[in-house]
Amino acid sequence: MNPKSHKLHQLRHRRDAFASLDPKVWWEDGIIKATVVAEPQVVVDVLRRPDSSLPDWNYFVGGAERVLGRRLEHLREASEFMPVLMHNEAHAKARKSLAIYLANRLQALEPGLPSIAGDAAARMLAGSTVDLFAEVVRPVVLKVGSVLIDADMPPDFLDRELSGVFPGSKSPSEFARINDDFGHVFAFLKPRCGSSEELANKLCCLTFGIDSLTMLLIESIITAIDEAGEARAIKLPDYPVETGVPVTSRYVKSDFEIDGGKFPAGTSVRLQMQSLGYSNENVHQQAIFGAGAHVCVGKQITLRLWTQFAKAINELELKGRIVSYELRKSMYVCLYKSVKVELWR
Ligand code: HEM
Repeated sequence: MNPKSHKLHQLRHRRDAFASLDPKVWWEDGIIKATVVAEPQVVVDVLRRPDSSLPDWNYFVGGAERVLGRRLEHLREASEFMPVLMHNEAHAKARKSLAIYLANRLQALEPGLPSIAGDAAARMLAGSTVDLFAEVVRPVVLKVGSVLIDADMPPDFLDRELSGVFPGSKSPSEFARINDDFGHVFAFLKPRCGSSEELANKLCCLTFGIDSLTMLLIESIITAIDEAGEARAIKLPDYPVETGVPVTSRYVKSDFEIDGGKFPAGTSVRLQMQSLGYSNENVHQQAIFGAGAHVCVGKQITLRLWTQFAKAINELELKGRIVSYELRKSMYVCLYKSVKVELWR
């Protein structure tokens, strides 16, 4: 029997777990009530379909507000800046503005990337036990995040799980927590932004960039360590295998079928995006950054960082093993409290 999907994305040795799923598209009726998709081509097809949309964000936030008996004002304000919640021209305009902003930030980031990656790799000393999350990945994301928002990013932004604003079902208390977090972020960003467009772009960098970059980097090193075994040196691939968005959701607007599998109108679909990276097909691997209308705007900047990060770590030619790790419990993301790894040559 398949593991429950709210646990699947956080399983260790996940590649094997995904390979042995049978079936790879199934209806789940537990904590998650949705068609769960872990078949790469079906994930891509669903992402590309015009009759599947992001879940209705107002429905979930409105429900949380009714239970809490108060308006989640910072979340409401943040939602006005999120491309994922926009349609048609407004969506295209927000994407274009962010793409231009990110191209400019990439120019600012590029000269410093080798040293950002080199500093992170320098913490991976042979003969030591290192916390990959706290000592290697977090400093990289903090530095990159600071360039993205053109200001020294407060380290606590790394712990706020701002990606939780992404549409989807959460408990009212989780929505309240994300609301407070956005209050802090607005208090930091607003005095530093000269226009609402600048605020929107910086907010998008924090919301879509921070958790996803953290997950892509940490999951990729964990996977590389597991795949090397203890006998071979850790080798990060040229293109990342692990996505930074382990799960996304869609709402079925009208009935459709893919490969005989039925997606009835009015139901939800849970897309296990990690399956894409484990496929041998290039088109699936590319889709770790999404596909269709909401494909990632941060892909280019992420891949530039990846190239430097992989190079710096591969040059160390270290062997390693995961000693212990502590995950933060989540139905959607893989974020850690710590990942301890023993390293040697
Ligand atoms: C600089 C960092 C990043 C920024 C600024 C960024 C920005 C964005 C934005 C704005 C969207 C939504 C686009 C829309 O709705 O039209 C998006 C979607 C997405 N991003 Fe990124 N992103 C970043 C890093 C990453 C990373 C590291 C990954 C990991 C592979 C990733 C994977 C995705 C995926 C899978 C989607 C589509 C989600 C869906 O369709 O449900 N992003 N990104």
